[in-house]
Amino acid sequence: MKIWILGAAGQLGSALIDRCQIEKIPFVASKRSDIDITDLEQLKKGAQGTHIINCAAYTDVDGAEKNSKRAYAVNSIGPENLGILAREEGMKILHVSTDYVFDGEKRIPYEEADRPNPLGVYGKSKWEGEERLLDQMHSACIVRTSWIFGHTGKNFISSLLSKLKNEAHLEAVEDQINRATYNRDLAYALIDLCCHSGIFHFANGEPQSRFDIASDFYEEAMARNIPLKCQKISPVSAGSFPSVSPRPQYSALDTKKVALVLGRKPRMWKTILGEYFDHVTSSRR
Ligand SMILES: NC(=O)c1ccc[n+]([C@@H]2O[C@H](COP(=O)([O-])OP(=O)(O)OC[C@H]3O[C@@H](n4cnc5c(N)ncnc54)[C@H](OP(=O)(O)O)[C@@H]3O)[C@@H](O)[C@H]2O)c1
Repeated sequence: MKIWILGAAGQLGSALIDRCQIEKIPFVASKRSDIDITDLEQLKKGAQGTHIINCAAYTDVDGAEKNSKRAYAVNSIGPENLGILAREEGMKILHVSTDYVFDGEKRIPYEEADRPNPLGVYGKSKWEGEERLLDQMHSACIVRTSWIFGHTGKNFISSLLSKLKNEAHLEAVEDQINRATYNRDLAYALIDLCCHSGIFHFANGEPQSRFDIASDFYEEAMARNIPLKCQKISPVSAGSFPSVSPRPQYSALDTKKVALVLGRKPRMWKTILGEYFDHVTSSRR
């Protein structure tokens, strides 16, 4: 097995590189500047390895509303191109998708068989990408995930500690519920799933709001005597942060199927939170 990682400079791609190095799995990592997944000819010329893992995506949810042409090119045509390539070259392919393919009307976690009904351009383009990929390559593996965070990357969770250190008062949304996913755990799961076919849901933790997550970060930082400027975290509704794109109110993913196939449950929130802080504090020493 030799894995070809696309979108290697992103927060998931970089965790996948680390995981391949830990497990001593041969891999090639391509960034957007090396390979543009919207360009089939470039993909054909650059094809490497036996197993494609596609982490490349247009991930700016609000930006996708204004720049829908680009979002569809990367998130829909890109996976289709990869499906064509995998079929023609006899490669396996695993593609990463999102909980935003769902509309958020459910109040229990979404299963793989639930019907997508995306609200915004990002979710629509990702769902179309799933369909286009499967049209080209029926045996593809698609892993939907949610709220990825890691030690780098621009998102609410990855930037929380720095906000708690630098802002006296933080507001966090309490009426959007989801499951956070540690990029390291997802990368580990993807390596184990890349020989499988079908749709899987992977997320860590349990359904919670950004307010719950921020409160847990605060408590963990206090327990570790990390100096914080933050004195107060207030729960606010999503309407307090008007966004261009509609977002599902509840998009927690059900992970029973993936737990069965992997033979392990995704780790709990408090466990990954502890590991995240261990890493942050050890890298400061
Ligand atoms: N982040 C989340 O919370 C989240 C939640 C659910 C699902 N997902 C899915 O998880 C996957 C990984 O997300 P992530 O958080 O790692 O995203 P990310 O950090 O934004 O990384 C995506 C990478 O794709 C690259 N890329 C963009 N257009 C490309 C193109 N045409 N050809 C090749 N590469 C291209 C980007 O390069 P540039 O930076 O140079 O543009 C970036 O390095 C994506 O499929 C995403 O939809 C993410």
